[in-house]
Amino acid sequence: PKNATIFSMIQPTGKFHLGNYLGAVRVWKDIADLKDDGTTLLFGTADLHAITVPKPNVKEFREYRTEAIASILSIGIDPEKAIVFHQSRVSQHAELHWLLSSFASMGSLNRMTQWKSKSNINDQSDDTALGAIKLGLFAYPVLQAADILLYRSTHVPVGDDQSQHLELTRQLSNTFNAFYKTKYFPMPTTILAPTKKILSLSNPEKKMSKSDLNQKSVIYITDAPDVIAKKVKRAVTDSISESFYYDPVNRPGISNLINTLSGVQRVSIEEVEKDIRHIKDHKNFKQYVTDVLVAELTPSRERFHHFMKNPDYLHQVSEEGASKASEIAEKNITEVKRIMGF
Ligand code: ADP
Ligand code: NA
Repeated sequence: PKNATIFSMIQPTGKFHLGNYLGAVRVWKDIADLKDDGTTLLFGTADLHAITVPKPNVKEFREYRTEAIASILSIGIDPEKAIVFHQSRVSQHAELHWLLSSFASMGSLNRMTQWKSKSNINDQSDDTALGAIKLGLFAYPVLQAADILLYRSTHVPVGDDQSQHLELTRQLSNTFNAFYKTKYFPMPTTILAPTKKILSLSNPEKKMSKSDLNQKSVIYITDAPDVIAKKVKRAVTDSISESFYYDPVNRPGISNLINTLSGVQRVSIEEVEKDIRHIKDHKNFKQYVTDVLVAELTPSRERFHHFMKNPDYLHQVSEEGASKASEIAEKNITEVKRIMGF
């Protein structure tokens, strides 16, 4: 679309995994490749969001932030085409978060599922457990709305676990616009990744996640070929041999691997099923999955290690990105405050 502003972020809470790759960063790269002159692209690390989960130690956090920039570039995103930056380097994110927080109701935030799953709250009448939840985790979606609206973003490419937050963003945009009788904020469209959610290798009931402490459950985009082979070999599947087909209810482990193949190879589930029809046992199936993953991830892994040897370059990219983002952010927050009477 003409004059679009396309915006997305990822938390620097650990190394990027297959879910981040297929659900987010590879989609960003595809979009960047299509970019025309009227489009603004902003891709960042949500480092302010990253402190809402059990906080990493300072040294590790610094590393994750640097690695996140290296990962974004290693997928092939060109910093000449997209603004690549750390959220914390543009202070207007926090400022707009505050302004929007007085439009966000406790009820609408209470309906969000992420704070519940991240704090393992099952029983909302457990007052002690509820009382321990931090305001930052609860308000996470308001900061996310501020991130998106700060640039008056029109499109937000994310994985489907983020749909609910995008819905809240549109709601906040609408509430603000209605209250001030303005059309200042857009209604950002969610661009859902073509691949369904990638699940944990050891527990295909859960999504693959950076915060998963069981590293065998997660394939990182920087994993070496032998590590990928080992993890796929250990992935939970089932005892049905002789044929491999997609059936997420009865065969969640196999289906997760088929979904992964479909994502990586950019073909439908049915096409994957056709391609693997000749495979008759788990060992060969897992070898096939390993080969596809290794072939896909090797170029990015090599670029990643190359970038990590050049921390000055990474710093320069993210600082230039922050300065370009700040320019837009300052102009927009000034207008928002003018609308509000500040
Ligand atoms: P994580 O949950 O691993 O910490 P983030 O919350 O930083 O990842 O999400 C970054 C992006 O990656 C979001 O667009 C999110 O939708 C996507 N994403 C995260 N996990 C998965 C997954 N398992 N499958 C598909 N997409 C995912
Ligand atoms: Na997440």
